Amino acid sequence: MKKILITGGAGFIGSHLIRLFVNKYPDYQIYNLDKLTYAGNLENLKDIEKMPNYKFILGDIVDGDFIMNLFKKESFDGVIHLAAESHVDRSITNPMEFIMTNIVGTVNLLNAAKYIWKDNLEGKRFYHVSTDEVYGSLGDTGFFYEDTAYAPHSPYSASKASSDHLVRAYHDTFGLPIIISNCSNNYGQNQFPEKLIPLFINNIRHNKPLPVYGKGVNVRDWLYVVDHASAIDVIYHNGPDGETFNIGGHNEWKNIDLIKVLIKVVDKKLGREPGSSEKLITYVTDRAGHDLRYAIDSSKLQNELGWTPSLQFEEGIEKTVDWYLENQQWLDNVTSGNYKKYYDEMYGNR
Ligand code: NAD
Ligand code: DAU
Repeated sequence: MKKILITGGAGFIGSHLIRLFVNKYPDYQIYNLDKLTYAGNLENLKDIEKMPNYKFILGDIVDGDFIMNLFKKESFDGVIHLAAESHVDRSITNPMEFIMTNIVGTVNLLNAAKYIWKDNLEGKRFYHVSTDEVYGSLGDTGFFYEDTAYAPHSPYSASKASSDHLVRAYHDTFGLPIIISNCSNNYGQNQFPEKLIPLFINNIRHNKPLPVYGKGVNVRDWLYVVDHASAIDVIYHNGPDGETFNIGGHNEWKNIDLIKVLIKVVDKKLGREPGSSEKLITYVTDRAGHDLRYAIDSSKLQNELGWTPSLQFEEGIEKTVDWYLENQQWLDNVTSGNYKKYYDEMYGNR
């Protein structure tokens, strides 16, 4: 049985990836290593937590001794590394958390993989999940390609860029079998409501102000989270060692246009006049260092590995809005911290 370690599996993207791997690969033993920060929530994995090929491990990737001992004990065949501090605004108020988890944590995992795989690299793989934000900001035209020079602007994107460089350095210097993907903005169920889409769905529902940064003209390229998980699956299994793949769905939206679509969809589902919640739009001070535009060219992934996104944006947004409206309890739990009780009930005695 192959042993695969997925880090950050209790978070947004990680939980979708764990679900995919646990269901699709019964002959893999999937280990989910997560510190359960404010963003990690085991409720996201309720449907698969009793599967025989799934195991949760509570732990911090910043703790190098813990990571080395875990790797020595479990001898993982593969690592898919998602654990990170992921929110740009938090990185502006507290950069050090990002340096520790995103950079030091990644190096601890690289060191442990390098150590346990030193005598035999056959069938081993270290997959680093990264972001398009490492490429910086585009003007009105053009795309990010795999060879676009890195130019991060926020402490978050700079910490992810640094971790990408270190992962490549372990390949070039030590021959570690690594692979990296850089993905655009994800949306879908189970995203922590500090990020634009779940925050705004919740605020529209509760008639709260919708804080639009600056003039609302920044552009993001949105991909349904399940499609990101399927791309990681394809790249993990078929991508050549040492390569990088961009992941995106060619789905650019100016923030204010996306917000107006969200308002229409939520209003309609709540039985309000579609568009009536536009009165909640409140322009606020812009995010410091706010990147103007992200747009991914993912033709390498499509041409070389045959991956394409499964969903059109309109369908994805409908599904996403439905999920948040039907799961108000989930939103209330994650914002109140009640979900920690769930962890204590499930794992407190182990
Ligand atoms: P998230 O914030 O929802 O989840 C992060 C997870 O990592 C949480 O479960 C958290 O508990 C865990 N974690 C944090 N610090 C840890 C530590 N020190 N030790 C162990 N676990 C720790 O993040 P997400 O949006 O799911 O993003 C996952 C990964 O994908 C990140 O590496 C992020 O940079 C990358 N990414 C995200 C997006 C996006 O749009 N959300 C797009 C591209 C790439
Ligand atoms: O591009 C990939 C990245 O996408 C990931 O690496 C990050 O982990 C993820 O958080 C996301 O970063 P963004 O900063 O693009 O996402 P966020 O949802 O925070 O913001 C999306 C856009 O909306 C951005 O231009 C800022 C704006 N915004 C955001 C919030 C939270 C607002 O105008 N108001 C808000 O309240």
